[in-house]
Amino acid sequence: MIETDKRLAALAAVAEVRAGMIVGLGTGSTAAFAIDALGEQVRAGLMISAVATSLATERHARAVGIPLIDLPATIDLTIDGADEIDDACHAIKGAGGAMLREKIVAAASARMLVIADGSKRVARIGAAKIPVEVLPFAEAFVAARLADLGGAPVLRAGFVTDQGNRILDCRFPVDTDMRALAAEIAGIPGALGHGLFLSEVDAAYIASDGVVTRLER
Ligand code: A5P
Repeated sequence: MIETDKRLAALAAVAEVRAGMIVGLGTGSTAAFAIDALGEQVRAGLMISAVATSLATERHARAVGIPLIDLPATIDLTIDGADEIDDACHAIKGAGGAMLREKIVAAASARMLVIADGSKRVARIGAAKIPVEVLPFAEAFVAARLADLGGAPVLRAGFVTDQGNRILDCRFPVDTDMRALAAEIAGIPGALGHGLFLSEVDAAYIASDGVVTRLER
């Protein structure tokens, strides 16, 4: 059961949380299990503070009693989902559209954990759509640049990010050099962030059929 696996992966990551930590809270259905589990521990007396990666996560964290703070310079531990993850902890994120804040929180974190069910584990990332957050003013320009890079960008219809921006979902050829691509996208004026997480993830807990595997970078 995928839901059981998501929960098991989340619980394994939450076991790394210690009293006094500043914890980054991810976004999405898997991260939601971690937020629920942390909320339970906070209500039982665990002292932590947390940073939310989206407005939805902020609402969820408040509802379960987790104290939230603004983004500090450094975060101890972040727990977040992913759309794809490989054994070297390269990930694609952003199906939920929160990857800009997720990337900032991940970059600020001393340790960043991905949690996922086994369907997200791949030999090589790149089949999932790579989302690019774009300033609305620059949409046509960024879309043209992404098309030049082979990304076949498609505007995510009816979706506005927490920052008021739009998302272009891209599919690049499978043999694309992801590191070079990440640098190219980051260099497009008006492209504010993308879903390639090539250096941020330190470890992953992946649960398949009830068995949790830990991958360390
Ligand atoms: C949110 O923008 C995403 O990065 C999610 O973390 C990712 O899409 C995984 O979501 P699920 O846990 O819902 O699959």
